[in-house]
Amino acid sequence: MRKNKSAAVVLSAVLLASSFAYSPTFGTSTVQAEATEYKHAFDQKVIKRFKAERSMRHIQFLSEQLGPRVAGTEEEEKAASYIKNLLTSYGFDIEVQEFSIPDRLMGTLEANGNEVRVNIPAGSASTDEAGLSGSLYDAELGFPEDFTSEVEGKIALISRGELTFANKIKNATEAGAVGVIIYNNQKGSAPLNMSLGDYEASVPVAGITKVSGEALLNDVLPSNSEVTLTIERFENSTSQNIIATRTPKHVEDPDILHVTAHYDSVQYAPGANDNASGTSVVLELARILKSYPLDKELRFVFFGAEEIGLVGSKHYVSELSEDEVKRSTGNFNLDMVGTDWDQATSIYMNTLDGQSNIVSETAVAAAQRLDTPSPLTLYKRGASDHVSFYEGGIPSVNFIRREPGTADLEPYYHTPQDVLEHVSEERLQEIGELIGASVYQIVGNK
Ligand code: BES
Ligand code: ZN
Repeated sequence: MRKNKSAAVVLSAVLLASSFAYSPTFGTSTVQAEATEYKHAFDQKVIKRFKAERSMRHIQFLSEQLGPRVAGTEEEEKAASYIKNLLTSYGFDIEVQEFSIPDRLMGTLEANGNEVRVNIPAGSASTDEAGLSGSLYDAELGFPEDFTSEVEGKIALISRGELTFANKIKNATEAGAVGVIIYNNQKGSAPLNMSLGDYEASVPVAGITKVSGEALLNDVLPSNSEVTLTIERFENSTSQNIIATRTPKHVEDPDILHVTAHYDSVQYAPGANDNASGTSVVLELARILKSYPLDKELRFVFFGAEEIGLVGSKHYVSELSEDEVKRSTGNFNLDMVGTDWDQATSIYMNTLDGQSNIVSETAVAAAQRLDTPSPLTLYKRGASDHVSFYEGGIPSVNFIRREPGTADLEPYYHTPQDVLEHVSEERLQEIGELIGASVYQIVGNK
């Protein structure tokens, strides 16, 4: 049943697109010129009004005034309020959909007056407000024989590799360590993110980068100076999705299109590209598409708690009724669309199965009509909110800028360098026009 319907939608979208793009059957140049004009008139209604400088201002607020917007924190909530207030000012009625998020640990590490970025694994012990202070002990790989009685009362500094994280921690605590810091043995900008399985450590545990580990070994350990590790447990926290809906007049039980972006970030990252960029473009599309007559229902949804496991979008999709799922045409998910990294010249369209769908096909047609500069690449990849829609049976695509061929992301990803200065206004304009024309092709009243 659903299959037939979406096949029909794909077909009509393709026909529509091809008549816009080529008008091959009309023969005379007058008709072709009219078709071209019409095509431009329709797309132009959206693309002329998309203002990337407005998007840049949203990114400025989210990444600079607020900074990191970790799920469940005050900053994440302030970001939600900002989005809600803007949408209200555009004339939308907003639904704030609150949901609980899993308990989690967050930490800080201070060494020689500097802050070292840490990741605290589930299963670590927490500390009191003052934190755990101690000098470091070099435990190499963390085998039992790497520990002497010298480790007693100290914080063991262990390299990743050869043993499981849980075994390293067990060996350290059995030898008398009061805390454990594990550093990566591979390059990477984000602090080591460990899984301890079911292991419950009796001491505080932190993961750090390779660079941080080497700095602690070379600059801190020899002087025997103390470091301070503070770990706080956050329980019963909540986050929220912000939903702005436009329903068409005179259409009963309309099809629904979901245009989405997550607004939370990881710790330490101001999240200008990941994902104030997607948020800012969806906000600007909402402003523009508020005023045109529609054939379908259009929902702009801003997700919280994406970075801790797509929690917001899973909740949103789980709350859709069976009927709403049936009526859902697709999901355009924008995540990391504005990087200025010169190698990220392609707009990737990530789908879970690597196959095209109504969303990617509509974008391809729009790119042809608009002659947008960045090639589109269809790619098999999850790791963003399009996963939740796919799992709910709704065709979805994550739009994300990457390097063609390698699929690499910019080096600022999930680091303190994910800042406004690394966002390209020109690229925001391009994705805004592309997604705007695509969305309008599906929902606009022709
Ligand atoms: N925007 C990022 C990265 C991303 C998106 C990578 C799409 C690849 C494809 C996203 O916010 C992110 O960081 N995702 C997490 C996984 C998620 C399930 C917590 C990641 O890739 O580590
Ligand atoms: Zn993201």
